[in-house]
Amino acid sequence: MSSSPGIKTTGTDVKLWIMSDVHLESTRGWDLPAVHARPEFDVMVMAGDLITRMERGVKWLLERVTDQPVIYVSGNHEPYGGDIDRTVEKARRAAHGTNVFVLQDDTKRIGDTIFAGATLWTDFNLFGNRRRAIGIAADRMNDFRKIRMNEYRERFRPGYALGRHQHSREFLERQMRKPRGDAKLVVVTHHAPVHDLGYLIAPPEAEEKFSDEEMLTAAFRSDLSELMRPQPAVDGKGPLRPANIWVHGHTHESFDAVVGSTRVVSNAKGYGPWPGQELTWDNPHFDVNFVIEV
Ligand SMILES: [Fe+2]
Ligand SMILES: [Fe+2]
Repeated sequence: MSSSPGIKTTGTDVKLWIMSDVHLESTRGWDLPAVHARPEFDVMVMAGDLITRMERGVKWLLERVTDQPVIYVSGNHEPYGGDIDRTVEKARRAAHGTNVFVLQDDTKRIGDTIFAGATLWTDFNLFGNRRRAIGIAADRMNDFRKIRMNEYRERFRPGYALGRHQHSREFLERQMRKPRGDAKLVVVTHHAPVHDLGYLIAPPEAEEKFSDEEMLTAAFRSDLSELMRPQPAVDGKGPLRPANIWVHGHTHESFDAVVGSTRVVSNAKGYGPWPGQELTWDNPHFDVNFVIEV
């Protein structure tokens, strides 16, 4: 088990400083609070869309957070203008040997807390009609115009996003089925793993009732609440113990709800401030000092 000065290695009150969707590429005149004005925290969690070109995001974090570890997953914007896998590789290289940990379908244990990270993408199946949701996403989402793959040779398409979602979902389920003793599990993804609050209370209506605009939500969210409820052992795999906390971004909203036995949280800033504006951004509820304990 690795440990560094200032990092708690035991105890139940590890403080996570959580944010996402800072969008430095669309931000003027905003920065993290100065060191003395920050909340008390043990680990910073950056759940994607910090900046296009992820290695610049790593550099930005290293210039600002020098002592505590930072967990950083790629959002959909990090690979804009680049190759989706090279983006993460460059970021991993920039972070190598530092206190920033770039996670993509892998884990980092810090003290008694295991962080499992992935962009996640979505299953396009939020409303039960994947084919329609994929068609709408292909038409409307910049993700499927601005991201390359296979060494820049190919355009990233919804079918590939679905494949990566399934891969990440399996990875996350494996972590939940691994014995972890007293360790806590914190999942960090960019895309949302649940419906929004309205649908958590009332299940969705028939998908035909939804407009194309509403159907686009399936490119932002999947319903993975199944992974938030304990499940028995199956096929030689151990029982599923859901994550304690699941952090996400991407929807540019604040979210904090317990689903099954997992606390799902998002603290996304979104675009802005724009030049000439002061302290305004997409999500008025964004709290730069948002800290929760695990
Ligand atoms: Fe975003
Ligand atoms: Fe995003």
